[in-house]
Amino acid sequence: MGFWDDFSGEYESLFDRDPMYADALRIIMELVGDANRKRVLDLGCGSGTLLALLAEENPDAEIYGVDPSERMVQGCVNRFREYPNVHIAIGSALRVPLPTDYVHYAVSNLALHHVPPEDRMGCAAELARVMRAGGRLIYADMFCDVDGPVDDPARARDIILKMVGKSLYDLEHGAFETMLLHIQDIPAVIKGEGEYFTTDAVWKEHLEAAGFRGFEVIPVEPAEFGYRILTAFRK
Ligand SMILES: C[S@@+](CC[C@H](N)C(=O)[O-])C[C@H]1O[C@@H](n2cnc3c(N)ncnc32)[C@H](O)[C@@H]1O
Repeated sequence: MGFWDDFSGEYESLFDRDPMYADALRIIMELVGDANRKRVLDLGCGSGTLLALLAEENPDAEIYGVDPSERMVQGCVNRFREYPNVHIAIGSALRVPLPTDYVHYAVSNLALHHVPPEDRMGCAAELARVMRAGGRLIYADMFCDVDGPVDDPARARDIILKMVGKSLYDLEHGAFETMLLHIQDIPAVIKGEGEYFTTDAVWKEHLEAAGFRGFEVIPVEPAEFGYRILTAFRK
């Protein structure tokens, strides 16, 4: 988890200045609604931005933040020391350290595009395992519209258009560092090196096979950059 370990200190301030990120968090919170007396998992919780909103809005919920980066987890442990209902643990998309049939909500923001294609089904199965029947999955991420091999020109073109568009949007909204991060990230996303963008249809197929139903895809505006929220219910 080297990259996110190195990056954990600066992370919060970067994305805080991104209006689309703020909007995605707002939509996620609306979809969760009242989670008091419920259990909520945030998979790939990072520095805990979403955990903080969840904890603030739902003082009677049990909230679980899971991330593979030791530094992110340590940061969250420190940040939520005073919150007895926020629980932080090391884990990953393939290993969530929670019992089976346990959470009422699983949320995840900008984390699961780090799951390599061969592990997507395992991730969907792990989410299905920890969720109770009827529980709601709220999965927000950057998606593309063309899936295929890394050297597929149509796929590369789609990624370039989305990421350059997002970078220009960041620049115009004063999020200079976020713009640099996105520009810098383009080759890794095209080559599938640690970042594995795919279509929401691909994730839907895996999640459906794992036992999720009632899918809805909500775009975070401006929609053309591919930031989307996929929501579904555990059968
Ligand atoms: C861009 S950050 C997003 C953090 C947070 N969800 C947010 O909204 O700010 C990506 C996070 O995904 C985590 N991550 C990377 N690979 C992961 C995996 N296989 N399973 C779960 N989380 C992962 C990283 O450690 C990092 O904290």
